[in-house]
Amino acid sequence: MAPLDMKPNELESYWLPFTPNRAFKKKPRMFSGAKDMHFFTPDGRKVIDASSGLFCVNAGHGRETIVKAIQEAAARLDFAPPFQYGHPQLFELSSRLALLAPGDLDHTLFANSGSEAVDTALKVALAYHRSRGEASRTRFIGRERGYHGVGFGGISVGGMVANRKMFGNMLAGVDHLPTTYNRAKQAFSVGEPEWGAETADELVRLIGLHDASTIAAVIVEPVAGSTGCIPPPKGYLQKLREITEKHGILLIFDEVITGFGRLGTPFAAERYGIVPDMITFAKGVTNGAVPMSGVMVRKAIYETHMQGPEHIIELFHGYTYSGHPLAVAAGVATLNLYKDEGLFEKAKAGEARFAEAMMSLKGLPSVADIRPIGLLAGIDLDPVPGKPGVRGYDAIERMYHEHDLYVRVTMDTIIVAPPLIATDSDISQIRDRIATVIKAVA
Ligand SMILES: Cc1ncc(COP(=O)(O)O)c(C=O)c1O
Repeated sequence: MAPLDMKPNELESYWLPFTPNRAFKKKPRMFSGAKDMHFFTPDGRKVIDASSGLFCVNAGHGRETIVKAIQEAAARLDFAPPFQYGHPQLFELSSRLALLAPGDLDHTLFANSGSEAVDTALKVALAYHRSRGEASRTRFIGRERGYHGVGFGGISVGGMVANRKMFGNMLAGVDHLPTTYNRAKQAFSVGEPEWGAETADELVRLIGLHDASTIAAVIVEPVAGSTGCIPPPKGYLQKLREITEKHGILLIFDEVITGFGRLGTPFAAERYGIVPDMITFAKGVTNGAVPMSGVMVRKAIYETHMQGPEHIIELFHGYTYSGHPLAVAAGVATLNLYKDEGLFEKAKAGEARFAEAMMSLKGLPSVADIRPIGLLAGIDLDPVPGKPGVRGYDAIERMYHEHDLYVRVTMDTIIVAPPLIATDSDISQIRDRIATVIKAVA
């Protein structure tokens, strides 16, 4: 039984994810409220949110229509069983998503996190090939520096070494494309770099090595996000689409970050004129307000499963909280907000100004590269010699404690991703505070 005299602010019991716990607990960083472009701290400070929470609060914090929709859903239908039953708004949300996605990506499976969406997509790929009599297609191809969440599927196809090395052998039979990033050839490119489409040819080599008949799917983020924002070289994604199509390999775009306007289009797929076979999404679908994710699949994949006796389950997969009523209500309200405020178009219109603001940080001490695309940018700082991550952690501490700024930092890379509602003056403020922090940690 929990002791009744437990201290309410005991820090020890909580194990923070992806966080150096001991350093955090010595000097905690807390948010206790949020509205629009800002977080509020327990001591009453207003901190500008330059990374949309964690790339999810695309419409800004505390939006009333979303809050209201969640409140109403909670009062109306707190839970509905997702297996064998539905609730009306589920069908509304999936229909709206089908309209938003390109091509015939018309069918959605819901889950709760990006990691689950990725696992779901990988399993659908396997089941699809098996249903079509190609059960030998079990291999997945990911990419170095890719991030696809932390499930065993996601870390297997992912390519961030720290997320992989502790966890054994993971999924068997996974291979990886090389990263498209080459600083010598691409440094300080705005948008899609000129160099690098040829790295897609590595897929041809991997197909030669493994044979197409063993490969189920290729999974990539259209813009690698969590590793530090790596935009795709011009023509690269189109090449991946051509090669996969030619060899009967499914192409999965993991759009957990790039979905819902981050690149000025509903999905990155549209920006690049590509129809992948599946899109995984999460984060922005509910504006981060309730956990929700999903996988959109093309008609042919859905239809392949709609065989056999009609009373038998077609896909033995799902989660207790797939399509949870609160998440679905938040999703519908969020899509309405994106549409009513024209936020994807706003992001597109603001791309050039945002890039200019980010690129103006070039020349500050230790800035080794800047990569803006859409309303997303990676800023690499040179690591302190022999101590990777130290400069980045120093930046995290100073931002919060001294400069009222929140930006996602991974190792020594700052990843800027303001809410799509950001005004020019918000962007200037973010830029200026980042500049101050960069100078402070130099
Ligand atoms: C591309 C991509 N896939 C998957 C995930 C995992 O999402 P979650 O943290 O919701 O499991 C992320 C999270 O940032 C992501 O960026």
